[in-house]
Amino acid sequence: MNEFETDGQPLLEIRHVKKYFPIRKGVLQREVARVHAVDDVSFMVREGETLGLVGESGCGKSTLGRTIVRLLEPTAGEIRFEGQDIADYGARRLRPLRRRMQMVFQDPYASLNPRKRVGTIIGDPMRIHKTGDKRSRHARVQELLETVGLSPEHYNRFPHEFSGGQRQRIGIARALALRPKLIIADEPVSALDVSIQSQMLNLLEDLQNEFKLTYVFIAHDLGVVRHVSDRIAVMYLGKIVELSPAEELYRRPIMPYTEALLSAVPIPDPDLAEARERIVLQGDVPSPINPPSGCRFHPRCRYATEVCKKVEPPLVDYGDAHLAACHHPLNVDEATLAQVRAAPETPEEADESALPRDSSGLSEPIAGETGSAKPNP
Ligand SMILES: Nc1ncnc2c1ncn2[C@@H]1O[C@H](COP(=O)(O)OP(=O)(O)O)[C@@H](O)[C@H]1O
Ligand code: SF4
Ligand SMILES: [Mg+2]
Repeated sequence: MNEFETDGQPLLEIRHVKKYFPIRKGVLQREVARVHAVDDVSFMVREGETLGLVGESGCGKSTLGRTIVRLLEPTAGEIRFEGQDIADYGARRLRPLRRRMQMVFQDPYASLNPRKRVGTIIGDPMRIHKTGDKRSRHARVQELLETVGLSPEHYNRFPHEFSGGQRQRIGIARALALRPKLIIADEPVSALDVSIQSQMLNLLEDLQNEFKLTYVFIAHDLGVVRHVSDRIAVMYLGKIVELSPAEELYRRPIMPYTEALLSAVPIPDPDLAEARERIVLQGDVPSPINPPSGCRFHPRCRYATEVCKKVEPPLVDYGDAHLAACHHPLNVDEATLAQVRAAPETPEEADESALPRDSSGLSEPIAGETGSAKPNP
């Protein structure tokens, strides 16, 4: 939304976060397998920044979002919010944090209690957290209704009296009630008519500027997040496979999965649109119960070679804060490639580069553009 701010302080840092769901069977409910929904994810989000989180359905975006705000307990890893690792906080220690991190959900129909009045729905978080008295809460709800573009007169109405877009505004008002710093918006416009999606995106952007919010904005395609994200993380089967400043990602995708996702985004420029090949991804996302060996994308990747089946590619820094995990990176020139290969990173170091560094280590411009989408050997 705003320019990529390199000077914002990290608000959220996650390191090696895993979330596995056990699958149990039999009378004894023995664990027979695990869903590797989020599998070793590290990144940070700066204050005031919007990080887009993109990937096909089932790749673990919602699980990651819910784990960050601790609606789910991580299997492993650190979740640093405002400097504190909240990964193993219990309910009591989480309570004060719940005010500062909120979620907006995809489905505005399912996420609002149909039997409650709108004013009660929006005011509930304040009541639960015991902020203000009844009168001040009432006034605050009316103010929030106006903030999200509804009318204070809507206070006593029920959710079914509203359209999908209006309900999403109610969900957003509820998320704002406790003046959070971080909002995880889980596909907030996916269930809405295309015609009102941009209104909702504009609203979220205005709110970000007004209340200095930090967003993790989840979407299943790269079209929606383009204009709202400062940086974008691409997720595939529980892993971050590319992480880059937004415009850079659209100009120069490095990981073939990103290239495929991008090829599905409509381009307004007809010449460009004609020049670009539409890549149809074969098959569905494989099961996260037994993820493919090596690079998890290899069964669907048109550039895959033997090494891809055997060795998991680490997330490598290609310069300009652009990280990608691929043995045959696209759109990387020879000089950059030689530089990257001359300084082989351990997976550990590469993960660290998804996290903040002191300014000395950041952004040494090394990459030039090749424009060609030929994979490197
Ligand atoms: N509570 C759960 N128990 C078991 N598996 C789950 C649970 N929640 C999600 N999953 C599985 O984890 C994977 C990731 O799901 P999800 O995070 O919802 O993906 P996304 O939001 O990217 O569509 C899917 O395979 C899903 O079936
Ligand atoms: S590592 Fe291999 S399979 Fe994975 S994206 Fe790169 S080329 Fe494709
Ligand atoms: Mg989801």
